[in-house]
Amino acid sequence: MAPSAITPETSPERAVITKKVLVEAPEAPEVADKPQRESRRGSVCSARSVKLNDGNVIPQVALGVYKAPNGEETENAVLAALDAGYRHIDSAARYANEEACGRAIKRWLERNPQYSREDIFVTTKLWDADHGYEATFNALCTSLEKFQLDYFDLYLIHSPSNDEQKRLESWRALETAKRLGIVKSIGVSNFGAGHIEHLIHNAKVVPAVNQIEVHPFCQRQDLVDLCNKYGILIEAYSPLARGNKLQDPTIAAIAQKYNRTPAQILLNWNAARGNVVLPKSLSAERIESNFRIFDFQLSPEDVATIDALGAENYVTGTLHKSED
Ligand SMILES: NC(=O)c1ccc[n+]([C@@H]2O[C@H](COP(=O)([O-])OP(=O)(O)OC[C@H]3O[C@@H](n4cnc5c(N)ncnc54)[C@H](OP(=O)(O)O)[C@@H]3O)[C@@H](O)[C@H]2O)c1
Repeated sequence: MAPSAITPETSPERAVITKKVLVEAPEAPEVADKPQRESRRGSVCSARSVKLNDGNVIPQVALGVYKAPNGEETENAVLAALDAGYRHIDSAARYANEEACGRAIKRWLERNPQYSREDIFVTTKLWDADHGYEATFNALCTSLEKFQLDYFDLYLIHSPSNDEQKRLESWRALETAKRLGIVKSIGVSNFGAGHIEHLIHNAKVVPAVNQIEVHPFCQRQDLVDLCNKYGILIEAYSPLARGNKLQDPTIAAIAQKYNRTPAQILLNWNAARGNVVLPKSLSAERIESNFRIFDFQLSPEDVATIDALGAENYVTGTLHKSED
C-alpha cells in the first residue's frame, strides 16, 4: 500500500528520507528465526550478545536512560557506560534526552577513534502521540536529528495504540524504515498477547523484540512464552524493579552467598533467561557494577528460589501494564 504524503521537511536529511519513502524501497523477504545466543569478542559485542530474528546482533546489557535529564549528567552516564564496556543505549523520544545521548556517543567516539558508529547499538522509541504512518516517519526523523545519527539500530513502538488501524500504520512505517536502512531492526514495547497476535497476523515483518517489564517479581511467563514462540526477543525493562526490591531478603541472601550486589543477582537471573536487560543508573560506580553480571552462574536451586518470587508485581504502574 502506498504511503500517504509526508509533511514538509525541516532538514536536508529529512528531505532525503522523505524522498526515499515516497518512492518506496523495494520489498525484501523477511526471515524470522528464533533468536540464538551469541558470544563475540570486541566491537559491539564486548559483552554478551544475542541474535535477533532478523539476523542482527544486539548486546545483552544496555544502559537505560529513563528519567535521565537532557544534559551533562546523562552525557556523563552514557560516557561512563561506554567506558565500562556497554555498547547499547536504550532511550526514547518520551525521555526527552536524545540530544544528550547523541552528544555522549559522538564525544566517546571522538575520544576512542578505534571505534566507529557501528560499534554502538542505539535504541529509541516512537511516542504514543506520534502513531500513524506519516507521524511515525516525522517522529523518527526528529529522533535521528536529535541524536545526530543517520540510522538507529533498533526503533520501537513505545506502547500499543488502542486504535488498531493506527497501530498497523505505525508498524508499516517501521517496516518501510527498515527497508530503507534508517533503522536496522524494528520492534515493539508494552505489547500484550492480543497486540502481538494482531500484529503477527497483519504485518510483513515479525517484531524483533518486545520490551516489557520483567524481573523476578514480575515474570509474565505467558507473554514471554508467546513472544518466544514467534522468535521475538524479550527486552526486560525495569530489571532492577526500579531499585524497590534490592532489599528483598531472598535476593539479599543470594547476593551475599555469591558475594555480589542484589542488582547483579537480578540482572544475572534475567540475562540467563536470554533476555536483554536495560538497567538504568546515573552513577558511574553502579553503571560499572551493573555491567559485571556474566562472570558467575546461579545454581539451579537458587534460580528456582528466585523463580518462586514471581508474582505479577509491576513497579511501573498501570500506564505501561499491557493486557497480557
Ligand atoms: N518501554 C518502556 O515502557 C519502559 C518503561 C520503563 C523502563 N524502560 C527502560 O528500562 C530502563 C530501566 O528501567 P527503570 O529506569 O524503570 O528502572 P531500573 O533500571 O529497574 O531501576 C533504576 C533505579 O535503580 C537504581 N539503581 C541502578 N543501579 C543500582 C544499583 N546497582 N544499586 C542500587 N540502585 C541502583 C537507579 O538509581 P541511580 O540512577 O541513582 O543509580 C534507579 O533509581 C529505563 O531506563 C528505560 O530505558 C522502558
